[in-house]
Amino acid sequence: MKIKSIKGVKDILPGEIEKWQWVESVAHRIFSRYGFKEIRPPIFEYTDLFKRSIGDTTDIVEKEMYTFKDKGGEEITLRPEGTASVVRSYIEHKMHGQNPLTKLYYFGPMFRYERPQAGRFRQFYQIGVEAMGSPSPAIDAEVMTMLIEFFKELGLRNLELQINSLGCKECRPQYRETLKSAIKPHLQELCTNCNQRYERNPLRILDCKVERDGEIAKGLPKIKDHLCSQCEQDFAQVQKFLDAVNTSYIVNDQIVRGLDYYNKTTFEVISKTGLGSQNAVCGGGRYDSLVEDFDGPPTPGFGFARGRERLISILPEEKLQGLEQRPDIYLVCLGEEAQKLAFPITHQLRAVGLYVEREIEGGSMKSQMRKANKLASRFTLIIGENEIKSKQYVLKNMDGGEQWEIAADTLTEEVQSRLKSLD
Ligand code: HAM
Repeated sequence: MKIKSIKGVKDILPGEIEKWQWVESVAHRIFSRYGFKEIRPPIFEYTDLFKRSIGDTTDIVEKEMYTFKDKGGEEITLRPEGTASVVRSYIEHKMHGQNPLTKLYYFGPMFRYERPQAGRFRQFYQIGVEAMGSPSPAIDAEVMTMLIEFFKELGLRNLELQINSLGCKECRPQYRETLKSAIKPHLQELCTNCNQRYERNPLRILDCKVERDGEIAKGLPKIKDHLCSQCEQDFAQVQKFLDAVNTSYIVNDQIVRGLDYYNKTTFEVISKTGLGSQNAVCGGGRYDSLVEDFDGPPTPGFGFARGRERLISILPEEKLQGLEQRPDIYLVCLGEEAQKLAFPITHQLRAVGLYVEREIEGGSMKSQMRKANKLASRFTLIIGENEIKSKQYVLKNMDGGEQWEIAADTLTEEVQSRLKSLD
């Protein structure tokens, strides 16, 4: 029986990986401009960490976690998201003592047992950011702006930043009750899921994807009309800061988010084209009590994570040209002697930092040139019996067609300077 990969996971192969590497390099560049540093937490943690942070009654914890007992009998979960691990690490390593504002980012695989479909995987990759230590709305605006700058750098258009405020411990409980009373008369019309959410997590009814429920949700009381004065002020400030740098957004009061730790500002970035129903490329928000919930010192936080698969699938074609690395030089070796020489020559050229390819099995001139063309090598170096005798090799520019004779003992320097003259 042939072994295949598991449903909902995929290999990222050469040809595609260059896009991922490019997205990562842009993220490193943009995030470090804002003072964020990379963190690499483990991909599995004690199950309790996710249960307590994401919330017992969320879809992720109820239905989607990859949880198992390890050989020592510990309950372990493959991380479904990154915020919980970063918060755990922040507390464990006492980062609060090192800096009043800790700014971190991470890349890596996340695992959720969801129904696989276009844009939704069971192992997917996130790029996430967490800023911990400031309650200021300026942080919300700065982090969202950094995200939009990152998207711009990737050439992404047709994205929409949608923001909302979920209120805080003071105002949300009251809103929750108001919402429940307004939902009650509609319970029979709502889907089974929403009926289950009614007692445990009624705010989630607001972002139900079932069309009929969405229509009902539109007529329900809006949280923005029930915020306490502090939350109202903070949300207005966030918008002012975004306006100050022309970061465009819309307020969408149906953004609730599927994880329990959020309060105040929450947001999503939606792609208006190319992604169908799984159109959220990024989601995040404020989580002001999460660190405290894990017995850390009071530390407000704000962050986001975006799914890389969805992002990559909407990258514009023109940005993807030329991502695959071209060999600097391809050695075309004719005959046994030349084949023997090829290894030390490639070694010598690679040692100075060049990308060198050759056909290990040899072959005709035609087939080796075809291979060099296929790889889009910038130069070929032709070594045959005559060249070995005269100690002069032929270097050919594969783009322009011109060629030069090069002395064997100055080969490296000549190749380097000819390549440089092309740049
Ligand atoms: P999330 O909304 O659950 O938030 O996930 C963030 C992003 O991950 C989504 O917008 C989507 O692009 C991607 N994503 C989620 N599930 C899948 C899937 N099954 N397949 C492909 N992509 C997926 C969080 O994870 C929070 N930790 C974000 C955050 C960080 N909030 C504050 N800090």
